[in-house]
Amino acid sequence: MEIKLRTCALRYWRRGDEASLVRHADNYQIWRSLRDRFPHPYTSNDARKWIEHTLAEDPPLNLAITINHEAVGGIGIIPGSDIHHRSAEIGYWLGEAYWGRGIVTEAVKAASQWAFENYDLNRLWAGVFEYNAASARVLVKAGFKFEARLRGAATKEGRTLDELLYALVRE
Ligand SMILES: CC(C)(COP(=O)(O)OP(=O)(O)OC[C@H]1O[C@@H](n2cnc3c(N)ncnc32)[C@H](O)[C@@H]1OP(=O)(O)O)[C@@H](O)C(=O)NCCC(=O)NCCS
Repeated sequence: MEIKLRTCALRYWRRGDEASLVRHADNYQIWRSLRDRFPHPYTSNDARKWIEHTLAEDPPLNLAITINHEAVGGIGIIPGSDIHHRSAEIGYWLGEAYWGRGIVTEAVKAASQWAFENYDLNRLWAGVFEYNAASARVLVKAGFKFEARLRGAATKEGRTLDELLYALVRE
């Protein structure tokens, strides 16, 4: 499975992606905008565990963002449970060397379409730290709507922050 886009492609993670995963993911500027469960520093062992995790997923929920066949970022969904089973969170990151080229905007659009086509989902949502204007902009460009400011909802590096909730609801 490969979704070819103008700036990048999306495909499942593979064994062999570990070195490029570490090269791009081991970055404080990425980690500071993500959940703490994203490792920092990002080691070879973290990369190996991540790829084995995604290979075991059934159905697959995570895709690598590739450029020239090299995995340079990731995008995935986390479906909700119970009454939220038709909602899923979408999360993503891209190697800093590639920021500002419209890559994640294209990836979010394509991954949203992939998610709606392959899963019984009605809603995709993302929570953005208040200081992450680039990610908020990506979501708006990909058709997500700003819904709410969740006051003091997240704590990162000891700082409690507002989280901005964006969502895309299936037409
Ligand atoms: C946020 C991130 C995904 C953006 O990826 P990207 O491929 O650089 O995004 P794009 O190039 O598609 O779009 C970025 C947009 O944000 C804008 N932008 C960038 N920095 C900005 C800033 N400091 N303030 C306002 N807008 C900013 C860009 O100008 C661009 O908008 P434009 O096309 O209208 O000019 C990437 O920086 C990243 O991986 N960050 C770390 C992880 C992360 O934040 N993940 C999301 C968690 S919610």
